Amino acid sequence: SSKNYIEILGQRFPTDDYTNITPAIIAKTPLQLHVKSAHPLSTLRGLIESAYPDFTHVSTMSPLVSPYYANRDMMLRTHTSAHEVEMFRKGETRWLLTADVYRRDEIDASHYPVFHQVEGARIFDASPSGMKEVEEDNARVSGILAKSNIVIEDTLHISPTNPVQHNHDPVFSELVAKNLKLSLNNLLLKVFGGVAGISKQEPLRVRWIEAYFPFTSPSFEVEVFFQGKWLEILGCGVIRQATLDTAGVENKIGWAFGLGLERIAMVLFGIPDIRLFWSTDPRFLSQFEQGKITTFQPYSKYPSCFKDVSFWLPQKSEIHENDFCDIVRDTAGDLVEDVKRIDHFIHPKTNRTSLCYRINYRSMDRSLSNEEINHVQSQVVSQLVERFEVEIR
Ligand code: PHE
Repeated sequence: SSKNYIEILGQRFPTDDYTNITPAIIAKTPLQLHVKSAHPLSTLRGLIESAYPDFTHVSTMSPLVSPYYANRDMMLRTHTSAHEVEMFRKGETRWLLTADVYRRDEIDASHYPVFHQVEGARIFDASPSGMKEVEEDNARVSGILAKSNIVIEDTLHISPTNPVQHNHDPVFSELVAKNLKLSLNNLLLKVFGGVAGISKQEPLRVRWIEAYFPFTSPSFEVEVFFQGKWLEILGCGVIRQATLDTAGVENKIGWAFGLGLERIAMVLFGIPDIRLFWSTDPRFLSQFEQGKITTFQPYSKYPSCFKDVSFWLPQKSEIHENDFCDIVRDTAGDLVEDVKRIDHFIHPKTNRTSLCYRINYRSMDRSLSNEEINHVQSQVVSQLVERFEVEIR
């Protein structure tokens, strides 16, 4: 079609040379799984919110944000940190914000172009009285943790690669970082402390790792030991003063964190494939109850069907793996379980590049007929030719 606009959540946006949002993605924007009653993502959101009872809880922010580079108008947020400035500008001092976020990515059982994050933040007066509040809160949470079955590995001190911001009092920064860590250890105890896989006798193991984010310093990542593996849970740190300055907030210091809901929900509920969160099959949805963490009972695993596509790239052109995956998602939707590049070579004489991708088709909800898959595969192939001018081999 030759429409010169796209419509997202009832709003029209003129398309331009930046537009790359596909109909499959637009279709996800109104779904709001994180507030859909009984949905595992909604239960997990509720559980996280219950660890922060005196915070403002927000979960209905529009996914359309303005990009950082001035002048191209709109984009879908790629992380919930995109809302930090506006939350602080509103005067919020302690808040959680849950939302759908959008990233172009590979295709496999744990990646999906839409997922959900919770952002949390708290700011204090950057003054002796503000720091007294921090110390009191630190003492309170330390008391809770001391009585709990949690082992925390945290040898991290401020380092040259993870510095205190030059405009921060190092004592203030350290107290705030301590508050962040205590608060998150307490959250993880709430989320992982009471579920299968961690027995009453075995402690919950949490470890803190140095990290880098452009909007915090010092920064950390947190991992939890779960079912024999260290699981990456979240990123966090002491908020960069520039964020608060932009929001017009003066004389405050604070922390922020961001975590992805899907990966946590997959292990808590035993959900093996990220596409299941989007299933409308009652065999999925009816298994869950709001507020309860229960183990998913797979109702069936339908057969896989592999299809390969090999092609020559046009001279002097490239196609990024994510572009390929975009086309596949757009044409085949959730019927694709994963995509792998299985061959790549450059012809020694002609210098042309040949690629081969293997697409694994499998529905979560039903058996696919060979006919149906062949049809979808031929649409993927013709989209490839149309958009990238490849030559099928
Ligand atoms: N926004 C970061 C991400 O998506 C996570 C983060 C949030 C890190 C807040 C630090 C502070 O990876």
